[in-house]
Amino acid sequence: MSFDWSNKVVLITGASSGIGRGLALALAKRGARLGLVARRADLLDEIVGEVESQQGKAIALVADVQDQAAMRAAADRLRAEFGAVDMLIANAGIGTTTDAAQLDATEVATVFGVNVVGAASSVAAVVPEMIQRGRGHLVAISSLAAYRGIPKSATYGASKAALSLFFESLRLDLQPRGIDVTIIHPGFIKTPLTAGREATMPFLMELDYAVAKIIGAIEKKRKSYAFPWQLASIVRLGLLMPIPMYDRIAGKRSFRE
Ligand SMILES: NC(=O)c1ccc[n+]([C@@H]2O[C@H](COP(=O)([O-])OP(=O)(O)OC[C@H]3O[C@@H](n4cnc5c(N)ncnc54)[C@H](OP(=O)(O)O)[C@@H]3O)[C@@H](O)[C@H]2O)c1
Repeated sequence: MSFDWSNKVVLITGASSGIGRGLALALAKRGARLGLVARRADLLDEIVGEVESQQGKAIALVADVQDQAAMRAAADRLRAEFGAVDMLIANAGIGTTTDAAQLDATEVATVFGVNVVGAASSVAAVVPEMIQRGRGHLVAISSLAAYRGIPKSATYGASKAALSLFFESLRLDLQPRGIDVTIIHPGFIKTPLTAGREATMPFLMELDYAVAKIIGAIEKKRKSYAFPWQLASIVRLGLLMPIPMYDRIAGKRSFRE
């Protein structure tokens, strides 16, 4: 049976830009009713306007994902507007280049605060109701950078590894209670996050292509989905390599300046 978005209420974090914005516009077209979380109210209002001009339904929920009370309030508003939340797409995230020689632990805390703690506070805002209803779907937007260390990506990669493991453990706890968990591991996608980078980004994807792939994986209730297949295969090969071989090969690559 095909996936019916028209009876779904979906909370998307990081919806003001890039992947989150792309998912919002695509899911609204499929009939989902959306709560859009981000800090930039003006951008969220524009997206709500665009959704409504195509007869879709969305509300802007201005919040910082790190603020637990604000996330609970956002979920409450979405519930009051459209009904119980069926799906969370924990997408809000920030990137950074880590310079090992000038390591800034405050920056590490900031990235983990958004990418990991922010995702946890998003889950906490919706999961009690999902458990009560015995259904729901949690989706995390992680990264192919979560699988193994890559140069200049200690902070970002570690935050995404933490995010993936966090959701994997949640899956084990929540599956028996009727809640699906999908962890998405994308490669490079053209968004404001990657714009301006001069380093080579192999198999760089167009946003629309990536959004369609993510939606397909959600509809199939994939537990984990890594793409594009070419880069995902290279990353999987890296997982099999002995450490000295991995260090020799990966140490020469950098996807950040
Ligand atoms: N682009 C890629 O190549 C790529 C690859 C793999 C994974 N990803 C992941 O995909 C996700 C989306 O990335 P993107 O490329 O679409 O980047 P983006 O265009 O920079 O979007 C990031 C989104 O996160 C929101 N955000 C950041 N900090 C937030 C906070 N504290 N509270 C609430 N919202 C916050 C931003 O909104 P505000 O600034 O308005 O708050 C924005 O909507 C990230 O988790 C990223 O790590 C991206």
